[in-house]
Amino acid sequence: MNDSQPLTLALSKGKLLEPSLQLFEKVGYDLTALRSKSRRLMMDEPQGQLRFLSAKGPDVPVYVEHGVADLGIAGRDVLEETGADVLVPLFLGFGQCRMVLAAPQSRPHQDLRLAHDLRVATKYPAITQRWFRRQGLSAQIVGLGGSIELAPEAGLADIIVDIVETGRTLHENNLVEAETILNIEACLIVNRASHKLRLNEINRLISKIAAVVAPERKS
Ligand code: PRP
Repeated sequence: MNDSQPLTLALSKGKLLEPSLQLFEKVGYDLTALRSKSRRLMMDEPQGQLRFLSAKGPDVPVYVEHGVADLGIAGRDVLEETGADVLVPLFLGFGQCRMVLAAPQSRPHQDLRLAHDLRVATKYPAITQRWFRRQGLSAQIVGLGGSIELAPEAGLADIIVDIVETGRTLHENNLVEAETILNIEACLIVNRASHKLRLNEINRLISKIAAVVAPERKS
């Protein structure tokens, strides 16, 4: 069904873009047009099988949940934060990092856990709120758009919840990791209705992606 229409795939424009493009190139698609410096945000690959949307990371699950994109690649952080109702058939083995609670070097984490009215700066208010509730701790969430590591030293928050990859940003801003909240990697996500309506096409694509991802996971 619908074999003449390309499957639409939402990609994240940030750090996940390059490994996502490499993944589809390994699967066999020609992505020269996507790699051009064009500002076009929607492009088909030459065979007309796949249409790519370039979206902001947090918007990828939105496009997929609404069925505008049949599939997408999103970080687990974004999936958990948006709570999008999508299928997650594959973890892709790239974009690995972790979400942590981090505290100033000068204030040991144990003290912070005993403190009342903790102010926590984060780009992930939903995940942070859930984590604090589960721990039986109360916290005032300060929502920010980025540069979260600035908040404690600048006096906006006591601690932060943010992504750590190399640890360099924490270190250079006098912060230390206290707890890991979530291990993150890129996930393939699929719209529920698309998965029913275009089952064979989507399963074929998932199998091709899985075949490329699986050997890399073992090495
Ligand atoms: C991310 C994250 C940390 C940093 C971690 O920020 O929010 O700030 O990378 O990387 P590191 O552990 O290797 O230092 P990003 O660069 O995406 O920008 P942002 O601060 O605006 O979110």
